[in-house]
Amino acid sequence: MSDACYVHGYSQREKERLADQADTLSRLLHHDTAYPAGSRVLECGCGTGAQTVHLAAGSPQATIVSVDLSRSSVEAAQTRIRTAGYTNVEFQVGDIFNLPFEEQSFDHLFVCFVLEHLTEAVEALRRLRRLLRAGGSITAIEGDHGSWYCHPQTPQASRTVECLIDIQARMGGDSLIGRRLYPLLVEAGFESVRVSPRMVYVDASRPELVEGFSKKTFIAMVEGVRDQALSLGLIDPVTWEKGIADMYRATEPGGTFCYTFFKAHALK
Ligand SMILES: C[S@@+](CC[C@H](N)C(=O)[O-])C[C@H]1O[C@@H](n2cnc3c(N)ncnc32)[C@H](O)[C@@H]1O
Repeated sequence: MSDACYVHGYSQREKERLADQADTLSRLLHHDTAYPAGSRVLECGCGTGAQTVHLAAGSPQATIVSVDLSRSSVEAAQTRIRTAGYTNVEFQVGDIFNLPFEEQSFDHLFVCFVLEHLTEAVEALRRLRRLLRAGGSITAIEGDHGSWYCHPQTPQASRTVECLIDIQARMGGDSLIGRRLYPLLVEAGFESVRVSPRMVYVDASRPELVEGFSKKTFIAMVEGVRDQALSLGLIDPVTWEKGIADMYRATEPGGTFCYTFFKAHALK
């Protein structure tokens, strides 16, 4: 996959951002995911393994097969898992839409921050469903940039986030997908769909979230589309710089930050 067709790209900074996101949010997003001994779990779109380490830690006796379209990301994920000392993860380069696995060969599916980048999210879920045994589960975690707000909030700060939403939509993705997880899973044929919103609330009394979420996850993600936003003429440089500065101001004492992730669980 080329950087051109994936909004966040594959830079070192993005690798660090995904790791900060996963580590900061691990309890919020993963505390209720554990797979039984002997089960086979397919993680699709593992990226550089930022979530994989938490999956491997939470389900030490399950076998996790982690797949991504990007070879360099899979190699980075392999290194991360090896360095962390986990031996229960296998890696493969592959496309969600054309995976080389037998039908019904997995007990569980895990997809995190991937559906938002796909033009055909329902079709991806349908194809993944075929790989799942009857009664097996899917866990899908996505954000929703429309759920972000901060204090103090300015029109310029809101505009920078709208640029990210707009750019991702132009690339065929949907950064507002969290709110659509339930209908997407139902449409793809999954049953017993349950979606649990997971809100991140940040103020100065939670310094680890100020750094790990507000600055290094969310603002870093918005800053990542600066050049695209300017070259597309979505915003002028002065408004952009003020919007980003205003977001940083909301990470200072007296400021607050809110964002909601959506975690879905469903069965085949
Ligand atoms: C935002 S990253 C998330 C990575 C990881 N799940 C995490 O949370 O850190 C999205 C990942 O999805 C991968 N991806 C996008 N489309 C894909 C496809 N069709 N098949 C497999 N992986 C894909 C990208 O290469 C990228 O690594």
